[in-house]
Amino acid sequence: MYSIAIDGPAGAGKSTIAKTIAKKLEFVYVDTGAMYRAMALYFLRNDIDASDEDAINEACKDIQVSITYEDGMQQVLLNGENVTGFIRTEEVGNMASKTSAYKTVRATLLDLQRDLAKTANILMDGRDIGTNVLPNADLKIYLTASSKVRAKRRYDELIEKGENADLEQIEEDIIIRDKQDMEREIAPLKKADDAILVDSSDMSIEQVVTVIVAAFEEIR
Ligand code: DC
Repeated sequence: MYSIAIDGPAGAGKSTIAKTIAKKLEFVYVDTGAMYRAMALYFLRNDIDASDEDAINEACKDIQVSITYEDGMQQVLLNGENVTGFIRTEEVGNMASKTSAYKTVRATLLDLQRDLAKTANILMDGRDIGTNVLPNADLKIYLTASSKVRAKRRYDELIEKGENADLEQIEEDIIIRDKQDMEREIAPLKKADDAILVDSSDMSIEQVVTVIVAAFEEIR
C-alpha cells in the first residue's frame, strides 16, 4: 500500500492538485483540513470561544468526526451529520486555523487520519501529514506559492463566483493564517526534511500535477 503526503499553506492549490493526482493514480484522497473545519463548525455552532482552551477540551468529548465517500468525493460527518456543505466559509476556516493549535483537537483526529492510511492507497493533504501524521509516507510534497500569488488566485475565484473581493485584505488574511499555522507549538506547518519542495507560484496546475506524478513514478 502506498501513501502520499501533501502539505503546504492555505491557498497553495493543494486540494485541486491532490484531487487530480488521486484520480490519476486511483488513490483515495483524504482532505484533513475538512476534518479540522468540521470541528471548528461544532465550536462555532455552540458559541465556544476559540481562546477558551478548557471549553474546547470539554467540547472535544462530544465530537465525533468521520468521513465517507459519495461518487468519489469525500464527505465529512460531524456526529453523524453530513456537514460538507457548511465548512468552506472564511469564518469556519479561520476558526479551524485557531482551534487546530490545541492538543485535544489534534488528538481527536490523529487516529482517524492514521487508520485511513492503513486501508488503501491514499493521498492525504494538510499541514502536518509528512511531519506528524504519516512520517513514513512513501512520497512527501511540500506545496507552496508566494502569498501574493495565493491571494490573487483566491481573489480570482471570488470574482468568478460574482462575489466582492479585496485583494489586499485577502493577502493580509493569508499572511495571518500562515503565521498561525506555522507558529503553533503542536505539529506546526513546516516542510518535512525528506519532502520535495514544489513552489507553484509560476506553475500551472497541470505542471504541478506532472511533477508530483513523475516523483511518484520514480519511487513506485
Ligand atoms: O486546508 P484547510 O484550509 O481546509 O485547513 C483549515 C485549517 O485546519 C488550517 O488553517 C489549519 C488546520 N489544519 C491543520 O492544522 N492540520 C491539517 N493537517 C490540516 C488542516
